[in-house]
Amino acid sequence: MSEHAKLHPVASDVAARAWVDREGYQAMYKQSVEAPDDFWAEQAKTLDWFRAPLIIRNTDFGPGNVDVRWFEDGQLNVSHNCLDRHLATRGDQVAIIWEGDDPDESQSITYRELHARVCQFANGLKELGVNRGDVVTLYMPMIPEAAMAMLACTRIGAVHSIVFGGFSPDALAGRISDSSSRIVITADESLRGGKRVPLKENVDEALERDGTDCVDHVLVVRRTGGDVQWGSRDCWFHELVDRQSSECPAEAMGAEDPLFILYTSGSTGTPKGLKHTTGGYLLYAAMTHRYVFDYHDGDIYWCTADVGWVTGHSYIVYGPLANGATTLMFEGVPSYPTHGRIGEIIDKHQVNILYTAPTAVRALMAHGDAVMDSSSRDSLRLLGSVGEPINPEAWEWFHRVIGKGNCPLVDTWWQTETGGIMIAPLPGATDLKPGSATLPFFGVQPALVDNEGNILEGVAEGNLAILDSWPGQARSIWGNHERYIQTYFSTYDGMYFTGDGCRRDEDGYYWITGRVDDVLNVSGHRMGTAEIESSLVAHEAVAEAAVVGYPHDIKGQGIYIYVTLNDGIEPTDELKKALTQWVRKDIGPIASPDVIQWAPGLPKTRSGKIMRRILRKIAANETDGLGDTSTLADPSVVDELIEHRANR
Ligand code: WT7
Repeated sequence: MSEHAKLHPVASDVAARAWVDREGYQAMYKQSVEAPDDFWAEQAKTLDWFRAPLIIRNTDFGPGNVDVRWFEDGQLNVSHNCLDRHLATRGDQVAIIWEGDDPDESQSITYRELHARVCQFANGLKELGVNRGDVVTLYMPMIPEAAMAMLACTRIGAVHSIVFGGFSPDALAGRISDSSSRIVITADESLRGGKRVPLKENVDEALERDGTDCVDHVLVVRRTGGDVQWGSRDCWFHELVDRQSSECPAEAMGAEDPLFILYTSGSTGTPKGLKHTTGGYLLYAAMTHRYVFDYHDGDIYWCTADVGWVTGHSYIVYGPLANGATTLMFEGVPSYPTHGRIGEIIDKHQVNILYTAPTAVRALMAHGDAVMDSSSRDSLRLLGSVGEPINPEAWEWFHRVIGKGNCPLVDTWWQTETGGIMIAPLPGATDLKPGSATLPFFGVQPALVDNEGNILEGVAEGNLAILDSWPGQARSIWGNHERYIQTYFSTYDGMYFTGDGCRRDEDGYYWITGRVDDVLNVSGHRMGTAEIESSLVAHEAVAEAAVVGYPHDIKGQGIYIYVTLNDGIEPTDELKKALTQWVRKDIGPIASPDVIQWAPGLPKTRSGKIMRRILRKIAANETDGLGDTSTLADPSVVDELIEHRANR
């Protein structure tokens, strides 16, 4: 690992334009943790409040109850902050650039246009009987109406719950019923990589499931014009919304009123609906967006996530729009129509800031540098990474090839639960180390904790916990506060437990090693699966690798490795030996793979996350209880792996 850990110092031109330099960061960080009330009271002024908060912080991490409140006596409205307050200064500036799945389709929407449309949308929701506090489920393609729906909900104080458009009808039904949604907003079909996904049909199917009687109306946006079944509760978006007034007052919401619910999977049980609230969340999303991406007026910013994930909430919609940014929304997939699409979109819209996931970078990297030849990407100024540990080799390729060697790359660690970025470099302040998320954001107090709950100081490796509250944190699990306390605050008394493992180096930099549930214990030695994967993908033959533990009679756990080779590489026994040697050499003999299985594809969610749960089952030969594979991008991958399970 150390051979990759070379330093990329802050460049002087980057520092010159950045919001903060090194000393600025240190001073602000110090104040944020030593005088948090003063710090956040000052920061809160960057939002427009209908009633300014006097009570800044009231947070209790237990033990016993957990109660987190920020700016609790303040009143504001999120859509007002994202739209109305920009009209006087930037009404004609583009708010959303939409790039369709088809490269010939795109659209620019100004702040004024977006405001008018959101007001119409909000009035339409009111006509359907949606009130303050009601839950609205969104099951949408990546089209501007998705962002408009979010903002329309916030305008009238409704709580949105977005379900990623790749989830199955069953998954959708579970979330609708858990949140008691009154309305579902969807589209006839979505379009991704030239393929149509029958969203409306999926909603129809979901609403046949038990527990979904709460839904009174289904609002349908016409996207493709494909055939849909029509029932009495269905309503076309254009028929309802086009005739509405484009004025709609923004409700004054309490800072702690719920803004949205977002479901996320844990290692056990049904998905948890994390509850995010209004004031603290918006402030944190806006502030992290401004500082971490060093966003300045005029920048064109593109986050490649889907609004169905928290990254889309905070860094496609709320953070950027609160900052008056121009945010790009992409309907399609990076590999369509060609693997050069990302670069072509960057050139077409002169994108300055690109925020994407390591898995997307590695997919491109597997095709070789020439994959980026169809674009110049000269407009790029900054790169960002999120979602999983980025191995140093992918980091360097992202930096060297996509960013042409002159864009800082911010690796951002955070979670659905945290609402916004927690550990990340600030471009003008932080020297970069490939593979490290570097240093905490303002107000974030990370701690490394051992399994007995002792806080470790200095250079250390442990479980990542956070010692005190930050404004963006989820306040509860919808309808189950006990579970919230149990999941996040019972592992270590008085601390938020992240579920991640982490290392801190001699410079105080944090290196996320992966979920603790993915950490292996081999002959008493702990190892991050991410570390082994990072080593493997640094091998020239390897495109991608996934490592899981499996029960081993002697070692406790053995190391089972799934390897996807680069195009044109022959899977031979010699290569298996070479990879074994490679890992032994890179990390040490304790990391010797026990089993290597060639994997033409890995089971991934549609957001690109490798589903290790499934890989662990296959590795353990427990293929009867694989559970729900419907959320996989390509479920057939699983059968292929089972069939060619490596013999032991
Ligand atoms: C988990 C959270 C953050 C929004 C998207 C994912 C992993 C996320 C990083 C990173 C290493 C990362 C962690 C975390 N993770 N970003 N930069 N480096 N690991 O949100 O689905 O809630 O997943 O993703 O394991 O706990 P999420």
